[in-house]
Amino acid sequence: MTIRAIEWASGKIRLLDQSRLPWEEVFLELEDYREVAAAIKEMRIRGAPAIGIAAAYAMALGAQAIEAKSREEFLVKLSTVSQALRATRPTAANLFWAIDRMNRMAEVGEDVTQIKSALLHEAQRMEKENEEAHTKLSQYGAELVRDGFAIMTHCNTGALATAGYGTALGVIRAAKEQGKKLHVLVTETRPLLQGARLTTWELAKYNIPFTLIADTMTGHFLSRGKIDCVILGADRIAANGDFANKIGTYNIAVLAMENGVPFYVAAPSSTIDLSLSSGDEIPIEERRAEEVTHIEGIAIAPLGVEAANPAFDITPHYYVSAIITEKGVIREPYEMRLRRLFM
Ligand code: MRU
Repeated sequence: MTIRAIEWASGKIRLLDQSRLPWEEVFLELEDYREVAAAIKEMRIRGAPAIGIAAAYAMALGAQAIEAKSREEFLVKLSTVSQALRATRPTAANLFWAIDRMNRMAEVGEDVTQIKSALLHEAQRMEKENEEAHTKLSQYGAELVRDGFAIMTHCNTGALATAGYGTALGVIRAAKEQGKKLHVLVTETRPLLQGARLTTWELAKYNIPFTLIADTMTGHFLSRGKIDCVILGADRIAANGDFANKIGTYNIAVLAMENGVPFYVAAPSSTIDLSLSSGDEIPIEERRAEEVTHIEGIAIAPLGVEAANPAFDITPHYYVSAIITEKGVIREPYEMRLRRLFM
């Protein structure tokens, strides 16, 4: 079962428009990096690793269109492309990781033609590495899952979010492929319903049994002794193990600890940002109030009411039982062990 969230197709970027799922499977063919930047902002492509891959291909796309007489002129024009992509969504580390890596590749290039081709190859290499990292971390994570487990997950961390096998959902897929019987409790993930719209759509395709619950039901289910573990993803992990993830993650973490339920975070090393010492330094994206006051364009509150819409929250590291990465499963003390991953 292959779901392709993003694909490089003969000089264009082909995206599965996630804002239309599960109602319609619409593919967008984008030829301009500005269209890709808009698609990231509007969450037609979303999920930290998938945003990173989209940005890498958008840099390659932007580079192909640059007309420059010198390498220097080319690099100045390329910085306009990377600035536009950097301004799309502030929280996911993978976005900045991907743009920085593409810029480093451009800077060591010899001439315009060579840099253009090197950038496309680098984006393709990143896509391949991304796929391998997710498959690997899913295998490590699956060791933590036993036959018969009931698992709670939040948001969407599957093929759609990763342009690969998935992170938290990848762990669940790998455990199922090992023959383990599982049941997944999927939170709806208001305001944009990534759990209800996307995770249920993916799980149905993988034939993994699930139950959809409203976000307000997490405490109820965690306190009943019927959930064996929580597995979810991350948008950015600071050096001390604090992490940003979809709004509502912090609530689940506190409730999991209160009820003695293991709480696992699955993420590739491109989500780890050692330049930030703690979660306090992670920028949190604030989105339009309309995403809270409306669902699919239909008002669910009186018109004009004020609403807050932070897209992510920060969970302190002491709620995390383990971080599952492609380099292995890490437990406290996180600071020393996360740093060691990059040595
Ligand atoms: O706002 P989104 O849908 O991009 O947020 C996605 C999440 O919070 C995911 O949990 C995270 O990016 C990890 S995806 C493997």
